[in-house]
Amino acid sequence: MKSISLVALAFLLYKFLILESVDADSPHLFFDWTVSYSQLAPLGVEKQVIVINDQFPGPMLNTTTNDVVNVNIHNNLTEPFLITHMDGVQGTNCPIQPGLNWSYSFQIKDQIGSFFYFPSLFFQKAAGGYGAIRANNRVVIPVPFPPPLEEFDVLIGDWYNGDYKEMRSSLDLGIHLFQPDGILINGLGPNKANFDFQPVTANQTAGMSYYMVATSRFIIPELAAIAIVRYNGSQGNPIGLLPPGPLPFDYRYSIEQAPSIRWDLAVGAARPNPQCSFHYDLINVSRTIILQNDWAVIDNHLQYTVNGVSFVHPDTPLKLADYFQLSDVFVADTISDTPDGRFPVLGTSVIDVKYRDFIHVVFQNPQLSLQTWHIDAYSFFVVGMGVGNWDKSKQLTYNMVDAVSRSTIQVYPNSWTAIMLELDNQGMWNVRSQDAEKWYLGQEIYMRVKGVGQDDPVTVPSRDEVHPPANLIKCGRAGSL
Ligand SMILES: *[C@@H]1O[C@H](CO)[C@@H](O)[C@H](O)[C@H]1NC(C)=O
Ligand SMILES: *[C@@H]1O[C@H](CO)[C@@H](O)[C@H](O)[C@H]1NC(C)=O
Ligand SMILES: *[C@@H]1O[C@H](CO)[C@@H](O)[C@H](O)[C@H]1NC(C)=O
Ligand SMILES: *[C@@H]1O[C@H](CO)[C@@H](O)[C@H](O)[C@H]1NC(C)=O
Ligand SMILES: *[C@@H]1O[C@H](CO)[C@@H](O)[C@H](O)[C@H]1NC(C)=O
Ligand SMILES: *[C@@H]1O[C@H](CO)[C@@H](O)[C@H](O)[C@H]1NC(C)=O
Repeated sequence: MKSISLVALAFLLYKFLILESVDADSPHLFFDWTVSYSQLAPLGVEKQVIVINDQFPGPMLNTTTNDVVNVNIHNNLTEPFLITHMDGVQGTNCPIQPGLNWSYSFQIKDQIGSFFYFPSLFFQKAAGGYGAIRANNRVVIPVPFPPPLEEFDVLIGDWYNGDYKEMRSSLDLGIHLFQPDGILINGLGPNKANFDFQPVTANQTAGMSYYMVATSRFIIPELAAIAIVRYNGSQGNPIGLLPPGPLPFDYRYSIEQAPSIRWDLAVGAARPNPQCSFHYDLINVSRTIILQNDWAVIDNHLQYTVNGVSFVHPDTPLKLADYFQLSDVFVADTISDTPDGRFPVLGTSVIDVKYRDFIHVVFQNPQLSLQTWHIDAYSFFVVGMGVGNWDKSKQLTYNMVDAVSRSTIQVYPNSWTAIMLELDNQGMWNVRSQDAEKWYLGQEIYMRVKGVGQDDPVTVPSRDEVHPPANLIKCGRAGSL
């Protein structure tokens, strides 16, 4: 919620949103989930936690590429519920109303790795409702490492002892959140999560246990999540001090360390899609967009902005407005491509971008707090990071060879991060701050990726999109259509 996001390794192309894709030859997996409240005390203070099938974190979705996953979700909360892992946000989908159920159906395509799902509305994520997703490779597609003996899903996230509805109310009043109370690993407080390891090549592990530590950065006091790695026959917990992390406020260290993580081009493994786009240095950039985050007081209310606009949701999801051709729900391109110093306003920001364009986006963070940006349904190359204000000269410092591919990226305080992405997935996609407070108070935009010309009308679904499912939930002005 603050500076820690849940674990997600992502080098993939997402291909569908409210869309159903039924492939008769692919294996179908069926899950039945009930989302409800429970009283739990992960950090010793009982609070209302959102559980799925009575579990927190929710059940792990174990899938394999090409599987058609059907999840029938029963909403036993007292408010609407919408789950996301690549989409499923307020601008694209209508939520499941309390007391009702709805079946998601989607196919795992072109994706291998560890992902997670979480509730996207009403600040519910602060109460749980999240869990891990595995997308296993099909056995016919080899991975460039020996098969692991076992796999563990590690969900690391900050935690507030307060009630999520009270947290939401205080944000609604313009009072920003205090520090989280701690960090959980798989829903558990310090020293509670255990990972049982078998020695394979390690040779000094018999009877030993070790700390697994995740610490916060850029906040005081520093918070630590601690789990225990146990080898065969270990007795008790590890002794000794926790391993030291980097200095909590050493931004320079981070800005240099982050880009040092690079794509290993020598490994013969699957690439991000489209398969040749890892030669991104050869692709001409068609557009540069600079998105600057800020905050403002608008109508006596704390809001977070992107290029001077704090997002407000219209009564109808943008995607449905397009689908049903409701032209008065939003107007695209009211936000500018670069910060223009406008007086901060509320607005519904949708940037129209062209299908198959290759764009360059600079996230500029003039604030003293860490920022994190996420783009739904895309992975992008993180080509540069630097301190201060971005300008064109910074492009000379970019890594145009082996930058990593991500769907979420940090922007350090008073710094910028530059990314490049191939717009190979049509649709209405959310671009948001992953800091829950900033997202809740307006720091998001939508990017509408649409084709050009007669074959690709503005309306959706376009030629290259899958059609919405037969059980599409309608709401707002689309409710009666
Ligand atoms: C996940 O699914 C794969 C493929 O069906 C199976 O081999 C594996 O044992 C499953 N793992 C878990 C933890 O259920
Ligand atoms: C949740 O489940 C309980 C017990 O089955 C039921 O009494 C209640 O009406 C349900 N609430 C909603 C909102 O579905
Ligand atoms: C709701 O769940 C029932 C089974 O519990 C299922 O038959 C029905 O199709 C589900 N409804 C929707 C809209 O998914
Ligand atoms: C453990 O393995 C390392 C590397 O192969 C070796 O140098 C070391 O001597 C081994 N230690 C023991 C206790 O066997
Ligand atoms: C781990 O311990 C179990 C039970 O003591 C034993 O059967 C197993 O062989 C051990 N595994 C290894 C790799 O040492
Ligand atoms: C990029 O632009 C240059 C100059 O306009 C052109 O020569 C080149 O073919 C373009 N490359 C691609 C991959 O389109």
